[in-house]
Amino acid sequence: MKIAVIGTGYVGLVTGTCLAETGNEVTCVDIVEEKVNKMRNGEMPIYEPGLDQLFHRNIKQERLTFTTDLAEAIAPAKVIFLALPTPPGADGAADLSYVLGAAKDIAKLITEYKVIVTKSTVPVGTADKVTAVLKANTDVPFAVVSNPEFLREGVAVEDFMKPDRVVIGTMDEKARAIMGDLYAPYVRQGNPILYMDERSSELTKYAANSFLATKITFMNEIANMCELVGADVDMVRKGVGADARIGKRFLFPGVGYGGSCFPKDVQALSKAAEENKYDFKILNSVMEVNETQKKRLVVKMREYYGADGLKGKHFALWGLAFKPETDDIREAPALYIIDELLASGATVTAYDPEGMPNVKKLLGDKISYAKDRYSALDAADALLIVTEWPVFRTPDFDFMKEKLNTPVIFDGRNLYDLDRMKEHGFYYNSIGRKIVS
Ligand code: UDX
Repeated sequence: MKIAVIGTGYVGLVTGTCLAETGNEVTCVDIVEEKVNKMRNGEMPIYEPGLDQLFHRNIKQERLTFTTDLAEAIAPAKVIFLALPTPPGADGAADLSYVLGAAKDIAKLITEYKVIVTKSTVPVGTADKVTAVLKANTDVPFAVVSNPEFLREGVAVEDFMKPDRVVIGTMDEKARAIMGDLYAPYVRQGNPILYMDERSSELTKYAANSFLATKITFMNEIANMCELVGADVDMVRKGVGADARIGKRFLFPGVGYGGSCFPKDVQALSKAAEENKYDFKILNSVMEVNETQKKRLVVKMREYYGADGLKGKHFALWGLAFKPETDDIREAPALYIIDELLASGATVTAYDPEGMPNVKKLLGDKISYAKDRYSALDAADALLIVTEWPVFRTPDFDFMKEKLNTPVIFDGRNLYDLDRMKEHGFYYNSIGRKIVS
């Protein structure tokens, strides 16, 4: 099938590349000429494990092409994906100007039936707005489909190639059939394609992400309770997760959720509720608790060093990206922690396998950057662990002790076994577990 993907951000690139991988001919459109030229030369603009290989293969086999020319891309396309940014506007609601702008441009160019798909996470009612813009600008028949993505950064290729489900929101029978054909190769293992109306589809995405953010937040609060009553959240997590109704996944407490989706989507759903004169109390609490949780490590540090004790201290920080296997630092808890530490008069040397260039762009020389995990520890009064990169999981503890000024670790991701930390003689303060001292 011939496909056009408008917007080559994270979602657009993953979608375009993975659709090409099953034999479709995909043209990706972006307005930034320099970016398009780079991609034509095989330069991948984002870091996503496994995507590079697919990207190169499909460019080579000429199933994946790039252009700045919208008309050229959509003329042959049966399906047009809109993967454009929907940043939060001043009032917290998603700004739809890119999506609606593209709809208008497309309307002026189409000459035959097209399926136009909103792939970005958009508020309920967006498909109707896109439809209205198209109708106002063309008489050519079309269908607008809501097809939310459920990609996790770091495993986006796997999530796209083998999705738990595909949600297709449209009442247009022809569009349902086309979308069903397009996604058939991805659900061969038997996972469902769920057909529904546009609004239910749009709400599904927000509901899924908000539920997951709530699940994490609930466990963060359980972890805080564990600390107060002397329980171990790792045990509680396993005990709770063994119940199939709850499930094992997304029960890991930490320093709060971050990233480009959960914070934005929880806020957007709460905002949408408000607009409908509904007070979505749980979501409002989730946001509030998450703000507090992002500073949890600093609270622990203040308890340890005393209220003014952070001043003049130097800390090593492992992990800047909001989670492992990505260079994405949007809403990353590390940034909040760094802010607090700097404001308290401490200094920080950070190490992250992928996230440092992005943090450098944002913070410059406000902090130092280490070339590897161990050199970050030089002359540091303590180590803070903020992202659970695999490389942090089994370090040489004796070497770490030699490097650190004092053997003190504040672990926001519960990477280490308490008994081992005791054996190695660390002060070790993690989330929802007993302090080793
Ligand atoms: C999320 C959704 O999982 C995905 O379906 C959606 O399309 C986009 O948003 P992503 O933001 O890439 O994906 O990351 P995810 O792996 O879901 O993690 C989100 C945040 O939750 C991270 O900050 C992570 O550290 C945190 N998290 C996750 C926890 O704190 N505990 C957990 O048990 C799981």
